[in-house]
Amino acid sequence: MTAAYNSMSNRIQTRTVSVTSGKGGVGKTTLTVNLAQTLAEMGKKVLILDGDIGLANIDIFLGIRPQKTLDDFFNGDETLENILVKVQKNIHVLPSASGLTDLQSIDVYKRKMLMDEVSMLDNTYDFLLVDTASGIDENVQYLNSTVQDVLVVITPEPASMTDAYALIKLLNQNKKVCRFSMVANKVLGEKEAKDIYRRMERVTSRFLNISLNYVGYIPFDPKLRQLSDQNIVNRARPSAASSIALKRIADSVIGEQELGEINGSLQFFWNQLLDVA
Ligand SMILES: Nc1ncnc2c1ncn2[C@@H]1O[C@H](COP(=O)(O)OP(=O)(O)OP(=O)(O)O)[C@@H](O)[C@H]1O
Ligand SMILES: [Mg+2]
Repeated sequence: MTAAYNSMSNRIQTRTVSVTSGKGGVGKTTLTVNLAQTLAEMGKKVLILDGDIGLANIDIFLGIRPQKTLDDFFNGDETLENILVKVQKNIHVLPSASGLTDLQSIDVYKRKMLMDEVSMLDNTYDFLLVDTASGIDENVQYLNSTVQDVLVVITPEPASMTDAYALIKLLNQNKKVCRFSMVANKVLGEKEAKDIYRRMERVTSRFLNISLNYVGYIPFDPKLRQLSDQNIVNRARPSAASSIALKRIADSVIGEQELGEINGSLQFFWNQLLDVA
Protein backbone atom coordinates (compact mmCIF):
# COMPACT_ATOMS: atom_id res chain seq x y z
CA MET A 1 0.00 0.00 0.00
CA THR A 2 2.64 2.50 1.10
CA ALA A 3 5.06 1.32 -1.55
CA ALA A 4 2.45 1.58 -4.27
CA TYR A 5 1.52 5.04 -3.10
CA ASN A 6 5.10 6.20 -3.06
CA SER A 7 5.98 4.80 -6.43
CA MET A 8 2.98 6.40 -8.03
CA SER A 9 3.79 9.81 -6.65
CA ASN A 10 7.06 11.67 -7.00
CA ARG A 11 7.98 11.17 -3.39
CA ILE A 12 11.27 9.64 -2.46
CA GLN A 13 11.11 6.04 -1.41
CA THR A 14 14.01 5.21 0.84
CA ARG A 15 16.05 2.26 -0.29
CA THR A 16 17.23 0.38 2.78
CA VAL A 17 20.63 -1.25 2.65
CA SER A 18 22.60 -3.04 5.35
CA VAL A 19 26.37 -3.38 5.36
CA THR A 20 27.31 -6.58 7.11
CA SER A 21 29.97 -9.27 7.17
CA GLY A 22 30.13 -12.06 9.67
CA LYS A 23 33.81 -11.48 10.38
CA GLY A 24 34.91 -8.27 12.12
CA GLY A 25 37.31 -5.69 10.77
CA VAL A 26 36.65 -6.35 7.10
CA GLY A 27 35.59 -2.78 6.31
CA LYS A 28 31.85 -2.43 6.97
CA THR A 29 32.14 1.00 8.55
CA THR A 30 34.67 2.13 5.93
CA LEU A 31 32.30 1.07 3.15
CA THR A 32 29.27 2.62 4.87
CA VAL A 33 30.95 6.00 5.37
CA ASN A 34 32.57 6.15 1.94
CA LEU A 35 29.50 4.91 0.13
CA ALA A 36 27.43 7.53 1.96
CA GLN A 37 29.95 10.17 0.93
CA THR A 38 29.90 9.02 -2.70
CA LEU A 39 26.09 8.89 -2.84
CA ALA A 40 25.89 12.32 -1.19
CA GLU A 41 28.23 13.77 -3.81
CA MET A 42 25.91 12.32 -6.44
CA GLY A 43 23.08 14.33 -4.91
CA LYS A 44 21.46 11.52 -2.93
CA LYS A 45 20.31 12.03 0.63
CA VAL A 46 21.63 9.38 2.96
CA LEU A 47 20.77 8.37 6.49
CA ILE A 48 23.28 6.18 8.28
CA LEU A 49 22.00 3.98 11.06
CA ASP A 50 24.75 3.00 13.42
CA GLY A 51 23.97 -0.59 14.23
CA ASP A 52 27.24 -1.13 16.05
CA ILE A 53 28.72 0.32 19.19
CA GLY A 54 32.13 -1.22 18.65
CA LEU A 55 35.32 0.73 19.04
CA ALA A 56 35.75 1.89 15.48
CA ASN A 57 32.14 2.81 14.97
CA ILE A 58 30.43 5.37 12.80
CA ASP A 59 30.69 8.14 15.41
CA ILE A 60 34.44 7.90 15.49
CA PHE A 61 34.81 7.59 11.74
CA LEU A 62 32.69 10.68 11.28
CA GLY A 63 34.13 12.61 14.21
CA ILE A 64 30.75 13.24 15.81
CA ARG A 65 29.70 13.11 19.42
CA PRO A 66 25.97 12.53 19.54
CA GLN A 67 24.09 14.09 22.45
CA LYS A 68 20.97 12.00 21.99
CA THR A 69 20.70 8.43 20.86
CA LEU A 70 18.14 5.76 20.10
CA ASP A 71 18.10 4.99 23.82
CA ASP A 72 16.33 8.32 24.32
CA PHE A 73 13.85 7.31 21.65
CA PHE A 74 13.14 3.95 23.25
CA ASN A 75 12.75 5.65 26.62
CA GLY A 76 10.11 7.82 25.02
CA ASP A 77 12.08 11.02 25.65
CA GLU A 78 12.82 12.01 22.07
CA THR A 79 11.44 11.66 18.59
CA LEU A 80 13.63 10.05 15.97
CA GLU A 81 13.96 13.37 14.18
CA ASN A 82 15.53 15.06 17.24
CA ILE A 83 18.18 12.39 17.56
CA LEU A 84 19.48 12.75 14.00
CA VAL A 85 22.93 14.24 13.57
CA LYS A 86 23.43 16.28 10.43
CA VAL A 87 27.00 15.45 9.52
CA GLN A 88 27.14 17.34 6.27
CA LYS A 89 24.89 18.16 3.36
CA ASN A 90 23.01 15.00 2.38
CA ILE A 91 24.42 12.84 5.19
CA HIS A 92 22.61 12.33 8.48
CA VAL A 93 23.38 9.79 11.18
CA LEU A 94 21.03 8.07 13.57
CA PRO A 95 23.18 7.22 16.60
CA SER A 96 22.21 4.02 18.30
CA ALA A 97 24.16 3.88 21.59
CA SER A 98 22.99 0.65 23.14
CA GLY A 99 19.64 1.00 21.40
CA LEU A 100 20.40 -1.61 18.81
CA THR A 101 22.66 -3.93 20.70
CA ASP A 102 20.00 -5.70 22.64
CA LEU A 103 17.03 -5.82 20.34
CA GLN A 104 15.73 -8.94 21.99
CA SER A 105 15.12 -7.04 25.20
CA ILE A 106 13.14 -4.37 23.35
CA ASP A 107 9.52 -5.29 23.29
CA VAL A 108 7.67 -5.84 20.05
CA TYR A 109 5.71 -2.62 20.47
CA LYS A 110 8.87 -0.53 20.59
CA ARG A 111 10.38 -2.34 17.62
CA LYS A 112 7.28 -1.62 15.60
CA MET A 113 7.36 1.98 16.80
CA LEU A 114 10.91 2.22 15.51
CA MET A 115 10.05 0.80 12.11
CA ASP A 116 7.07 3.15 11.95
CA GLU A 117 9.11 6.25 12.65
CA VAL A 118 11.81 5.08 10.30
CA SER A 119 9.25 4.65 7.57
CA MET A 120 7.93 8.14 8.27
CA LEU A 121 11.38 9.43 7.30
CA ASP A 122 10.86 7.64 3.99
CA ASN A 123 10.22 10.80 2.01
CA THR A 124 13.39 12.47 3.19
CA TYR A 125 16.15 10.06 2.32
CA ASP A 126 17.11 8.21 -0.83
CA PHE A 127 19.09 5.67 1.18
CA LEU A 128 19.22 4.24 4.65
CA LEU A 129 22.59 2.58 5.20
CA VAL A 130 22.74 0.31 8.23
CA ASP A 131 26.25 -0.36 9.50
CA THR A 132 25.82 -3.62 11.43
CA ALA A 133 28.01 -5.13 14.08
CA SER A 134 30.10 -8.18 13.23
CA GLY A 135 28.97 -11.66 14.01
CA ILE A 136 25.85 -13.67 13.51
CA ASP A 137 23.85 -12.97 16.64
CA GLU A 138 20.14 -12.32 16.68
CA ASN A 139 20.51 -8.53 16.50
CA VAL A 140 22.64 -8.67 13.39
CA GLN A 141 20.20 -11.10 11.82
CA TYR A 142 17.22 -8.97 12.76
CA LEU A 143 18.72 -5.79 11.30
CA ASN A 144 19.63 -7.58 8.09
CA SER A 145 16.15 -9.01 7.78
CA THR A 146 14.47 -5.62 7.82
CA VAL A 147 16.30 -4.09 4.85
CA GLN A 148 15.80 -4.47 1.12
CA ASP A 149 19.44 -5.00 0.19
CA VAL A 150 21.98 -6.89 2.27
CA LEU A 151 25.51 -5.88 1.27
CA VAL A 152 27.98 -8.47 2.49
CA VAL A 153 31.58 -7.24 2.75
CA ILE A 154 34.19 -9.90 2.09
CA THR A 155 37.99 -9.66 2.06
CA PRO A 156 40.46 -12.19 0.60
CA GLU A 157 40.99 -13.77 4.04
CA PRO A 158 39.52 -17.29 4.13
CA ALA A 159 37.85 -16.58 7.51
CA SER A 160 36.05 -13.63 5.98
CA MET A 161 34.55 -15.90 3.31
CA THR A 162 33.56 -18.69 5.69
CA ASP A 163 32.02 -16.23 8.17
CA ALA A 164 30.13 -14.48 5.38
CA TYR A 165 28.83 -17.85 4.22
CA ALA A 166 27.68 -18.70 7.76
CA LEU A 167 25.84 -15.38 8.02
CA ILE A 168 24.17 -15.78 4.61
CA LYS A 169 23.08 -19.30 5.52
CA LEU A 170 21.59 -18.20 8.85
CA LEU A 171 19.82 -15.22 7.31
CA ASN A 172 18.34 -17.48 4.70
CA GLN A 173 17.26 -20.21 7.09
CA ASN A 174 16.10 -18.07 10.00
CA LYS A 175 14.93 -14.90 8.30
CA LYS A 176 14.08 -16.04 4.78
CA VAL A 177 16.44 -13.55 3.20
CA CYS A 178 17.13 -14.81 -0.30
CA ARG A 179 18.84 -11.95 -2.12
CA PHE A 180 22.34 -10.87 -1.19
CA SER A 181 24.87 -8.50 -2.65
CA MET A 182 28.60 -8.73 -2.24
CA VAL A 183 31.35 -6.14 -2.07
CA ALA A 184 34.96 -7.31 -2.00
CA ASN A 185 37.22 -5.14 0.14
CA LYS A 186 40.98 -4.80 0.57
CA VAL A 187 41.61 -6.50 -2.74
CA LEU A 188 44.33 -5.82 -5.30
CA GLY A 189 41.80 -5.09 -7.99
CA GLU A 190 38.82 -6.32 -9.94
CA LYS A 191 40.35 -9.68 -10.78
CA GLU A 192 40.78 -10.67 -7.14
CA ALA A 193 37.31 -9.31 -6.33
CA LYS A 194 35.68 -11.39 -9.06
CA ASP A 195 37.64 -14.39 -7.93
CA ILE A 196 36.22 -14.08 -4.41
CA TYR A 197 32.77 -13.61 -5.88
CA ARG A 198 33.06 -16.76 -8.01
CA ARG A 199 34.14 -18.82 -5.03
CA MET A 200 31.29 -17.52 -2.89
CA GLU A 201 28.82 -17.99 -5.70
CA ARG A 202 29.94 -21.56 -6.22
CA VAL A 203 29.23 -22.60 -2.63
CA THR A 204 26.06 -20.57 -2.16
CA SER A 205 24.50 -21.84 -5.38
CA ARG A 206 25.43 -25.39 -4.49
CA PHE A 207 24.17 -25.46 -0.91
CA LEU A 208 21.67 -22.63 -0.56
CA ASN A 209 18.69 -21.35 -2.45
CA ILE A 210 19.74 -17.72 -2.62
CA SER A 211 20.99 -15.22 -5.18
CA LEU A 212 24.31 -13.49 -4.72
CA ASN A 213 24.83 -10.33 -6.70
CA TYR A 214 28.26 -8.82 -7.32
CA VAL A 215 28.19 -5.06 -6.79
CA GLY A 216 31.87 -4.17 -6.80
CA TYR A 217 35.04 -3.85 -4.79
CA ILE A 218 37.26 -1.42 -2.93
CA PRO A 219 41.00 -1.85 -3.46
CA PHE A 220 43.35 -2.00 -0.52
CA ASP A 221 44.03 1.69 -0.04
CA PRO A 222 46.27 3.08 2.71
CA LYS A 223 44.34 6.34 2.41
CA LEU A 224 41.22 4.58 3.65
CA ARG A 225 42.90 3.57 6.88
CA GLN A 226 41.01 5.09 9.71
CA LEU A 227 42.61 7.83 11.76
CA SER A 228 40.43 8.48 14.76
CA ASP A 229 41.04 12.24 14.87
CA GLN A 230 39.84 12.71 11.33
CA ASN A 231 36.29 13.19 10.37
CA ILE A 232 34.58 12.70 7.07
CA VAL A 233 34.95 16.33 6.05
CA ASN A 234 38.68 16.71 6.43
CA ARG A 235 39.96 13.16 6.31
CA ALA A 236 42.31 12.05 3.58
CA ARG A 237 40.45 11.49 0.36
CA PRO A 238 40.41 7.97 -0.97
CA SER A 239 42.84 7.37 -3.81
CA ALA A 240 41.63 7.85 -7.36
CA ALA A 241 41.32 4.08 -7.80
CA SER A 242 39.16 3.78 -4.66
CA SER A 243 37.02 6.74 -5.68
CA ILE A 244 36.30 5.15 -9.05
CA ALA A 245 35.56 1.81 -7.39
CA LEU A 246 33.23 3.48 -4.87
CA LYS A 247 31.44 5.31 -7.64
CA ARG A 248 30.78 1.95 -9.29
CA ILE A 249 29.36 0.53 -6.08
CA ALA A 250 27.18 3.63 -5.70
CA ASP A 251 25.97 3.30 -9.30
CA SER A 252 25.12 -0.31 -8.66
CA VAL A 253 23.23 0.48 -5.46
CA ILE A 254 21.33 3.25 -7.24
CA GLY A 255 20.57 0.82 -10.08
CA GLU A 256 19.06 -1.59 -7.56
CA GLN A 257 16.96 1.24 -6.17
CA GLU A 258 15.62 2.09 -9.60
CA LEU A 259 15.22 -1.44 -10.93
CA GLY A 260 14.44 -3.48 -7.89
CA GLU A 261 11.64 -1.50 -6.37
CA ILE A 262 9.03 -4.20 -6.73
CA ASN A 263 11.38 -6.84 -5.51
CA GLY A 264 12.49 -4.76 -2.55
CA SER A 265 9.00 -3.75 -1.59
CA LEU A 266 7.84 -7.32 -1.84
CA GLN A 267 10.63 -8.47 0.38
CA PHE A 268 9.74 -5.80 2.87
CA PHE A 269 6.16 -6.97 2.67
CA TRP A 270 7.15 -10.56 3.36
CA ASN A 271 9.39 -9.58 6.18
CA GLN A 272 6.52 -7.78 7.82
CA LEU A 273 4.12 -10.60 7.10
CA LEU A 274 6.42 -13.21 8.54
CA ASP A 275 6.86 -10.95 11.53
CA VAL A 276 10.63 -11.13 11.63
CA ALA A 277 10.50 -8.99 14.75
N1 LIG B 1 40.00 -0.80 1.38
C1 LIG B 1 40.75 -0.60 2.47
N2 LIG B 1 42.08 -0.36 2.38
C2 LIG B 1 42.83 -0.21 3.48
N3 LIG B 1 42.37 -0.25 4.73
C3 LIG B 1 41.06 -0.49 4.90
C4 LIG B 1 40.17 -0.68 3.77
N4 LIG B 1 38.92 -0.89 4.26
C5 LIG B 1 39.02 -0.85 5.60
N5 LIG B 1 40.29 -0.60 5.99
C6 LIG B 1 40.80 -0.49 7.37
O1 LIG B 1 40.56 -1.73 8.03
C7 LIG B 1 40.19 -1.49 9.40
C8 LIG B 1 38.82 -2.11 9.67
O2 LIG B 1 37.86 -1.40 8.89
P1 LIG B 1 36.41 -1.09 9.47
O3 LIG B 1 36.49 -0.51 10.83
O4 LIG B 1 35.69 -0.32 8.42
O5 LIG B 1 35.87 -2.57 9.53
P2 LIG B 1 34.50 -3.07 10.19
O6 LIG B 1 34.09 -4.25 9.41
O7 LIG B 1 33.55 -1.95 10.32
O8 LIG B 1 35.05 -3.51 11.62
P3 LIG B 1 34.15 -3.92 12.91
O9 LIG B 1 33.74 -5.34 12.66
O10 LIG B 1 35.11 -3.78 14.04
O11 LIG B 1 33.00 -2.98 12.97
C9 LIG B 1 40.22 0.03 9.58
O12 LIG B 1 41.46 0.40 10.11
C10 LIG B 1 40.05 0.54 8.18
O13 LIG B 1 40.58 1.83 8.00
MG1 LIG C 1 32.53 -1.19 12.04
